[in-house]
Amino acid sequence: MATSAPGKVILFGEHAVVYGEPSLSFALDLRFQVEAELTSGTTRVNGEPLDERHHAYLIQALRLHWGDAPLDLRTRTTLPSASGVGSSAALSVAMVGALLALKAGANPAPEVVARGAFETERSTQGAASPNDTSVCTAGGAVTLARTRLDGTQPLWEITSEERTWFVQRIPLPKLNLVLGNSGVRARTGDVVARVREAVQKRAFVRRAITEIGEVTREGIEALRRADLRRVGELMDHNEDLLRRLGVETPPLRRLLDAAHAAPGTLGAKLTGKGAGGSILVLTDRPSDAVAALERAGAKPLVVVPTPRGLEVSF
Ligand code: MEV
Repeated sequence: MATSAPGKVILFGEHAVVYGEPSLSFALDLRFQVEAELTSGTTRVNGEPLDERHHAYLIQALRLHWGDAPLDLRTRTTLPSASGVGSSAALSVAMVGALLALKAGANPAPEVVARGAFETERSTQGAASPNDTSVCTAGGAVTLARTRLDGTQPLWEITSEERTWFVQRIPLPKLNLVLGNSGVRARTGDVVARVREAVQKRAFVRRAITEIGEVTREGIEALRRADLRRVGELMDHNEDLLRRLGVETPPLRRLLDAAHAAPGTLGAKLTGKGAGGSILVLTDRPSDAVAALERAGAKPLVVVPTPRGLEVSF
């Protein structure tokens, strides 16, 4: 049997969502695929034995959601790793989806996979919100919030550390978005831990977290009105606040400056954990943003939200 799950792009709210503020993300048309079959002997991944250094998320998924029966696992991905576009969440969702499907001989319920994948991600990297694993399971555009949006039936609820988030779909207007990968890799667990330390020590960082929540709520409203000019301004404001959290690095700043100098740019911010990884540009002129990011040394990619979430086939 085989599964696949998309990566994700966060438009608003990264880091603050770990502290219960809302977020808004969408699934990306780059995917992680897992094929899993029962076998004899020992569990292998792409023909190799499991090893903690390279297969930490897979090993944790097996520990939490599987017994001892050996598996032949094959993985493939088009997602760059440690780049802020959800490769570990997509891996966790595809892997947990495969294990639950193999156990039951049927398609697992998405919310069960989302909860299991979140548990896998959080226990592997030390800290996480359910944001990435939720959007990679659901596909489309999703907001996580502690309250229900008007007129929206939540897809599911998810609880962690005494916080409950409603995972809710949100329609997006047409957006021209360009991703610029700095090529600098950073481990999510390390970056989230650094931000946690800053949150504990500094009041101005705690204030930035609350303000990111406000920007995200306003961003959701601006998207509902399809007011892209305002969405862009709010992305810039979100970036100012992420800088206060200490996750904007000089290579990311250079890419953001290059994006802002390009004609047609409405707003730009880092996306995901930062401290490396990627920036996201909202623009009226995607080809100018791509050219500017290329000149600045990034690997640009025009991104389109995909409705496809976790897919399972027997
Ligand atoms: C990483 O893609 C998003 C963070 O908010 C961490 C998380 O939500 O688990 C930085």
